[in-house]
Order: sequence, then structure tokens, then C-alpha cells
Amino acid sequence: MKRYCSQVVALAAVLTVMLAPVSPSAAGEKKLEVFSWWTSGGEAAALDALFRTYQNQHPGIEIINATVAGGGGSAARPVLQTRLAGGNPPDTWQSHPGWELLGQYLEPGYCEPVTELYKSDGWDTAFPKALVIDMMTKDRKIYAVLAGIHRGNVLWYNKKLIDKNGIKIGDKLTFDEFFAACDKLKAAGIPALGVGGSGIWASAQLFENTLLGVIGSKGWTDLFDGKLQWDDPNVKQAMQVFARMQTYVNPDHSALTWDQAIKELIDGKAAFSSMGDWAAGEFLKANQKEKEDFGWVSHPGTDGSFIVVADGFTLAKDAPHKEEAIAWLKCVGSKEAQEAFNRLKGSIPARTDVDRSKFDGYHQWSMDSFAKDKLVPSCVHGEAAPAAFQQTLNDAVTAFVVDKNVDNFANTLVKAAQESLTAK
Ligand code: GAL
Repeated sequence: MKRYCSQVVALAAVLTVMLAPVSPSAAGEKKLEVFSWWTSGGEAAALDALFRTYQNQHPGIEIINATVAGGGGSAARPVLQTRLAGGNPPDTWQSHPGWELLGQYLEPGYCEPVTELYKSDGWDTAFPKALVIDMMTKDRKIYAVLAGIHRGNVLWYNKKLIDKNGIKIGDKLTFDEFFAACDKLKAAGIPALGVGGSGIWASAQLFENTLLGVIGSKGWTDLFDGKLQWDDPNVKQAMQVFARMQTYVNPDHSALTWDQAIKELIDGKAAFSSMGDWAAGEFLKANQKEKEDFGWVSHPGTDGSFIVVADGFTLAKDAPHKEEAIAWLKCVGSKEAQEAFNRLKGSIPARTDVDRSKFDGYHQWSMDSFAKDKLVPSCVHGEAAPAAFQQTLNDAVTAFVVDKNVDNFANTLVKAAQESLTAK
């Protein structure tokens, strides 16, 4: 863990020199600095909708859009960490609830509570308790406002390609059905599975989704509670299934980002992609029609479960523009912003009292799933385990996609899980 931290700090230090420091506002200057990694086509469009809502609500405030490109925040988080450690925080930044928020940002004292907003703006009942209370609260104080909730375990497909190859996909998909489809596509010379693994997290997410598909939501909870071991036969079976999937991936997977992999799917160069529903933002941006150009189903075996990848915003301790930051958080939590942002982002509003009719078919499906399915936190997106474990998982996936050594993969994670349990 120490070695990882020092590498991150070194990399972040290099990147930070490239970023102009943001000084506190001079008297009368109205600014707000928002830090995120939302730079893909769909992500940027959604962030822009959030900014426009804020500027309509608060004309005259200049927004500093501090983004660091790289899906899943892999490049952004180290930069942020250095800024926070160096006492140069943005006013507010994107964070996942759970370990990321509470362990990486609250524990070292980088955030202020925002509990008051939940009272003043009547949010006590508007946001799901399971997330707010369980994953963003410490000592009865709440530390973030959720912008939206992504579903991580979605399998997207190119509808025309699937139809053309005589593949039928119903409301859910078993692993057997999935592999039968992959074989058909392979025989037709089409890469079945599009992965954008240049940031290894996308492969880790394919593993995460597959793991859930094999061990189920109860197994998931036990695994992250330390009641089930990473070398359990079922976990190893998931590793084998994940290894089998590697034989169907696009040949250029290691050179592509997640959104480039979605573009390949759109262009008919790959049939499926297992990716969180930020992918829906890319389909929308490319004017793709749901159920005509693209379709979706739960990742094999995960029907009935919803991997939560929620996006929240924090309030920095000693925020350079505190008043504007509080106004931003109020905006993020408003119905207006939740409707404008999530329609473009692919996530569902975190508020449960929005107007559902304003959302497309995919969003309706995801809202239904969120309401009735088992909700489980994502490890790949920082919620279920400490950052050190998340990093070990990424490193272990990097090794595994090359050597397919199930025992090494399992043993590495057993050790890392023991270390994070002792760190708790
Ligand atoms: C996740 C984040 C999403 C999306 C995705 C890909 O970590 O929660 O909002 O941006 O990364 O970049």
C-alpha cells in the first residue's frame, strides 16, 4: 500500500505542476471551481447541463471547470489527492459514496458536512436512505450531495448486429446464452465483447460484473464483509468465467478507452460491451435509438441486482468560494438539475420524487431496477472497499488478463482483503 501511495503522490506531483493554482477569490469576484473526470462526449454534455442549471439559478458566477480526463477517475483522483494534501482544494469535487468519500476525503479532514442542506431543502425524504445514511454519513453528519446513480452491471449490445446474426436476447441473459451468442459471433468473424481496457478499470468492471453474476448479491455482501474469501470455489469459478470472456474481446482492447469501446459497438465492430450506464450517455450523444440501434440487459447472471455507482459532490474544508459552493450543492440536489443532468448522463436521479415521464426507456428500466433489486456497492468505483484494495484489484486484473492464473489472482486478493480488514 505504501509503495502504491508513493507512486500516486509522485505522479500527482508531476501533474499538479501542470495545473495553475487556484487562488481564493478577490473581493466581489464570484467563482466556483468544480473538479471531475467527466470529459467523454456524454459525460461532458451532462456536466454542461448541470453548469447551465447552476448559472440560470445563479447568474454571474464564473465556473472553473477543472476536469482531468480518464474514465473512472483513474487519472483525476491522484491529481485531486495532491491538491487536497497541498491545501489547494477545488470548492467541490466528484466522489463516490462509501469508502472513497469516507476513507479518502473525510478521514483526512478534507470535507465539511452538508447536513444542513438536507434540512433546509427538505431532502430528508427525497434521497434514498440506503445511500445517504449508510454511505455518506459519519457521526450523524452527511458529507455529500448525490447528482445521480449509475447502474454498473449492464450489458449493452448493437441491436442490428445481434439481429443479423440470428441471436435472440430476452429480458435476461444467462452465462450459457451469452457464450452461445459469443460463439456465433466469433464464427462470423465479429469480436463479441468490446472492452476499452486502456484504463484497466474497464476490465476490472467486466470482472466485477461477472463476479456478481456468479456469486450473487448475498455472496457479494459476504465477500466485502470478510465472511466469504476471495479464494472460495465460487469466486474462483467467476475468475474462470472472466478468463473465458477474454477469448472473445476486441483485438485492440488495450488501446481503447471505455467510450472508444462503446463507439466500436455503435460502429458494429463489436457486439456487446459490459459497462456502467454512463454508456447510455454515449448512445444518446451519437443519436442512437434504443431498441433499434442498441439494446441492453443485465450483465449475465446479475438480473435482480443493481451495482450502485453513485456520483456525489462534496464541500471542501476551507473552500475558496464557500458561498458559491453551497449554492452549487443546493443546485445539484434540486429536481431541476437532477432531471437535466441525468437524462444526458445515463444515471437515474438520486431523488426519488422527480418526474419520471421526462426520462427515456433505459432510465425507466433502471429506475424500476433500483426500486426493486438488491443494491450492492461497486468495488471498482471505490464504494465497497478501501482505495488500496481497489488498486490491488486493478493490478491483479492486469496480470490475470495476461496469465489467466486463477490461484495467483485469488491469493493476491485474499491477502489484500486481509490487509484492508486490519486497516478498518
Ligand atoms: C465512474 C463515474 C461515472 C462515469 C464513469 C466513467 O466512476 O461514477 O460518473 O463518469 O466513472 O468515467
